[in-house]
Amino acid sequence: MAQFTLPKNSTLRTGKTWPKPEGATNLRTFRIYRWSPDDAENPRVDTYFVDMDTCGPMILDALIKIKNEIDPTLTFRRSCREGICGSCAMNIDGINTLACIYGMDEVKGDVRVYPLPHMPVVKDLIPDLTHFYAQHASIMPWLETESNTPAKEWKQSIEDREKLDGLYECVMCACCSTSCPSYWWNSDRYLGPASLLHAWRWIVDSRDEATPERLDQLEDPFKLYRCHTIMNCAKTCPKGLNPAKAIASIKKQLVERIV
Ligand code: SF4
Ligand code: SF4
Ligand code: FES
Repeated sequence: MAQFTLPKNSTLRTGKTWPKPEGATNLRTFRIYRWSPDDAENPRVDTYFVDMDTCGPMILDALIKIKNEIDPTLTFRRSCREGICGSCAMNIDGINTLACIYGMDEVKGDVRVYPLPHMPVVKDLIPDLTHFYAQHASIMPWLETESNTPAKEWKQSIEDREKLDGLYECVMCACCSTSCPSYWWNSDRYLGPASLLHAWRWIVDSRDEATPERLDQLEDPFKLYRCHTIMNCAKTCPKGLNPAKAIASIKKQLVERIV
């Protein structure tokens, strides 16, 4: 095996190389970011070897195998295992994605796994999403109405319902926001692509009655206009959504309400 070396300017340490599983002939090498509040070995990259003959096809399968059979201290989030909960978001081979739907065969050579970039780390592959969720809450991600509540349900035509396609599927994984250079530098004030996609999802919802307030809240040089249409968000979204398009729609609606 070639010696693993970190780039010259890296502040990471080369961490522990864990033993190869006995008797395995079909091995895959994983280089995984480690950071713990409980030791002084931070941050570092540990090396693990996974027996592909006894492992599922997705990156998450390998992480679970490592945790179960090699190193129980490896820490990451996951739940649904089918791209629905959004909790297994991480950076795999330089791409922000969901580990449970990212196939091992999409990576050539060693598999490098890091937490989502530009976020504080709680432990290993777990970013601190407190601020991200607070931003999401700030756009009022719920139906706001003034009319009397209908006896049965808020109705919507098929055409109006279709306007939510490409928006409602978002799983709030944060892959887009953490791939956005504007969000890296201004996340204290820029809402970022995920929250803005949700903002548009409620603006465009025909049942919602708070569109003027929603637009007023977004008309801000930082909250919305830090988007410079760099498009990293759309490129990385594991659900195939296009937050940049949603952001452009909000900007257009703001212009149209002036003229
Ligand atoms: S299009 Fe906007 S939100 Fe998307 S990555 Fe670029 S700057 Fe960020
Ligand atoms: S838009 Fe895509 S990348 Fe962004 S949070 Fe939603 S599902 Fe994740
Ligand atoms: S475990 Fe739920 S999206 Fe990956």
